[in-house]
Amino acid sequence: QKLLHEILPGAEVLIVSNREPYIHNKEGGQIAIQTPASGLVSALEPVIRACGGTWIAHGSGTADRETANREDKIDVPPGAPSYALRRIWISDEEQDGYYYGLANEGLWPLCHIAFVRPQFRQSDWEQYRKINRRFADAVIHEAKTEDPVVLVQDYHFALVPRMIRQSLPRATIITFWHIPWPNAETFSICPWKEEIIDGLLGSTILGLHTQFHCNNFFETVDRFVESRIDREHATVTSKGHETMVRAYPISIEWPPAALAGQPPVERCRTEVRQAIGIAPTAKLAVGIERLDYTKGILDRIKAVDDLLTRDPSWKGRFTFLQVAAPSRGKLASYSSLREEALALARDINSRHGDAAYQPVRLVIQHHESAEVFKLFRAADVCIVSSLHDGMNLVAKEFVASRDDERGVLVLSSFTGAARELAEALIVNPYNTQEMSSALAAALRMPPNEQQERMRLMRQQVREWNVYRWAGRMLIDAAASRQRQRILAIAS
Ligand code: G6P
Repeated sequence: QKLLHEILPGAEVLIVSNREPYIHNKEGGQIAIQTPASGLVSALEPVIRACGGTWIAHGSGTADRETANREDKIDVPPGAPSYALRRIWISDEEQDGYYYGLANEGLWPLCHIAFVRPQFRQSDWEQYRKINRRFADAVIHEAKTEDPVVLVQDYHFALVPRMIRQSLPRATIITFWHIPWPNAETFSICPWKEEIIDGLLGSTILGLHTQFHCNNFFETVDRFVESRIDREHATVTSKGHETMVRAYPISIEWPPAALAGQPPVERCRTEVRQAIGIAPTAKLAVGIERLDYTKGILDRIKAVDDLLTRDPSWKGRFTFLQVAAPSRGKLASYSSLREEALALARDINSRHGDAAYQPVRLVIQHHESAEVFKLFRAADVCIVSSLHDGMNLVAKEFVASRDDERGVLVLSSFTGAARELAEALIVNPYNTQEMSSALAAALRMPPNEQQERMRLMRQQVREWNVYRWAGRMLIDAAASRQRQRILAIAS
């Protein structure tokens, strides 16, 4: 609470995101609450828990869909409420166009270098515009003041900042783009590039993870929109409105809530090894994320294959556990990834394993964060081999889970996190041999070296936690509100 009230006293906070922090599902007559696998949610939830306010998100669970009063808000988190969740309901047809179509078959592959061709369809764009309007209207409806602080999240809502600005000209709109911003040439593929950029330029602040992405954004604006760009002050002025464009590397809460109540590392090691049926002394590497083609899951399984081929002495002594939360499964690019990953795991297990030893365990299933943290704590190595990733909070969560200062992080150089976690073993996921050598080095790393590296990485994440991320944006927002007030007095 200190965070918001010291920086922006009296401000009202509204968050807009597609993914909701708590999904209510009906399971056998009971309501089961799930926390989704989403970097956005892991980062934002602790912030709003601390500040209070209203989170507006797509109602994605099965529990309230038909019955809820559509304007209803519920208090969350369950058991210790500190903010309100307002769900927006979307029909299947709207969801196909706005979420699966424009957002996840268009903008997601457009912004990530994963060599998946973006698809742009006029009908998807129309649904995207319609749903953006619905969320903007919800903000306008919920706002009790003329100048709320609205935190607009991600590529699902590029048009929302401008829509809010038109009705609430004095709002402080902080938009955060959680994925990379591509170069201007790549962005030019999008048939609605001008509208998307114009929508974002309704923001007071536009945040990206790295300066590199900010530079790409400036170049894109320069090419496609009439505006004045001031690189020195990191601003773009368009239609008489100034937007500050800056890098705010996102992070996680410290200490993470999922760490509370965790058994000691030794117990996690024993229990997890027992649960998956491997020897108490066996080495374990884990990969844990959504089943997404940007994450390099196939590439890391290939590195495991390479390791076992080059050094068969690992057979029987080493297991790789991949936990992949099902994600966007309706899209062909995701369902075919699932098939490919299962086939690859089967193939490797048949070549390197036997009835008693399966080197690759692929579990396609959602895990709650306490279970994820237990796996992190049980592991000798965590592999994050994204082909491209704005930040990647899994890497930071692994580091945060290791209060024993042990464990090795193998981290793709194509993640934003690699710029902060220099003590990880940094790899190019396209280079299978390099990755398998890093994996071998990780498995052999002496405890004192693990400790030195882990200690430094933990210091980094502790210091640059998510409260600092939010705090830096709010400080910039406060300065902008101050400037606005001075300008208003002067005119
Ligand atoms: C990425 C996006 C988030 C999204 C998350 C999970 O981290 O930046 O906006 O919530 O993936 O994806 P999903 O489509 O399941 O929300």
